[in-house]
Amino acid sequence: MRPKVLVTRKLPAEALEQLEKHCDVDLNEADRPLTRQELMRRIRDKDGILSMLTDRIDGELMDAGPNLKVISNYAVGFNNIDVKEATRRGIPVTNTPGVLTESTADLTWALIMDAARRVSEGDRATRAGRWPGWSPMWMLGRDVHGATLGIIGMGRIGRAVARRARGFDMRVIYFSRTRLPEEEERALRASYCPLQELLRQADFVSLHAPYSEATHHLIGPEELAMMKPTAYLINTARGPLVDEQALVRALREGQIAGAGLDVYEREPELAEGLAELDNVVLSPHLGSSTWQTRLQMARLAVDNLLAVLQGRRPPHLVNEAVWPRK
Ligand code: GLV
Ligand code: GLV
Repeated sequence: MRPKVLVTRKLPAEALEQLEKHCDVDLNEADRPLTRQELMRRIRDKDGILSMLTDRIDGELMDAGPNLKVISNYAVGFNNIDVKEATRRGIPVTNTPGVLTESTADLTWALIMDAARRVSEGDRATRAGRWPGWSPMWMLGRDVHGATLGIIGMGRIGRAVARRARGFDMRVIYFSRTRLPEEEERALRASYCPLQELLRQADFVSLHAPYSEATHHLIGPEELAMMKPTAYLINTARGPLVDEQALVRALREGQIAGAGLDVYEREPELAEGLAELDNVVLSPHLGSSTWQTRLQMARLAVDNLLAVLQGRRPPHLVNEAVWPRK
């Protein structure tokens, strides 16, 4: 019998075809997330699910799909999944690290440059006919080159962001759960720095930590108050790492110079007042959104899913405790 899998959004055709060779695929053809009810119904007879970061995969959903043998998330982050509940049921959870590292680092740099040099703000003014012509004191921003970059979370993406900073002759400081080996610090020319110290020193604070209860509102009112009034906050990781209301206040009051955000606390909703501010660049969760990267993510998510269904260890297993399967 061919396994049955639910794919919760349309993906690159090549990856779906690979999946269809081995499984009966129930694909969400609609170009929107499945509702909770639809998910609960369509998981019922499935052996596997290929889920998006917008799908909440909790114990209740796992109970609704008693045959479920694998949860393959189409993302590097997996905070949309209750991993503890999956582990308790012996269900492997997989993700797609590595393949989206460089694209997400690129997007982080787009936000750094845009926020500091006011590209989007200037674009809005230009289109609206508000450009007074070249002016000595109009739309001044801040230099990126030579500035201090503070990276919070030195995983794959944090390190890829640090590597790019070398071309801008920046000083790189970082805070992370685990300190890098000395030789890697040297290669990246990045030095370890306690969080509060990093917040006080950095001209750009960029977040690359995973989201969990432990990192909820890692950046709140106190942290924003520690930042320089000339500094920028960049978030391409997960929205709830930042207290978005507090950020709106800090941006409005000029407590910090600006921000570049790709992720939000309640996507696709924005905190009240955020969209009215000119000193923030808002991109719509585009970190991994290139043709090349999304194809690689799809291939990897399919590989992960098929591996488990075929009794092989998946390339990227999140919950090691379930392997080997009992
Ligand atoms: C995107 O946000 C991801 O976690 O892959
Ligand atoms: C993600 O790939 C990370 O480890 O930063």
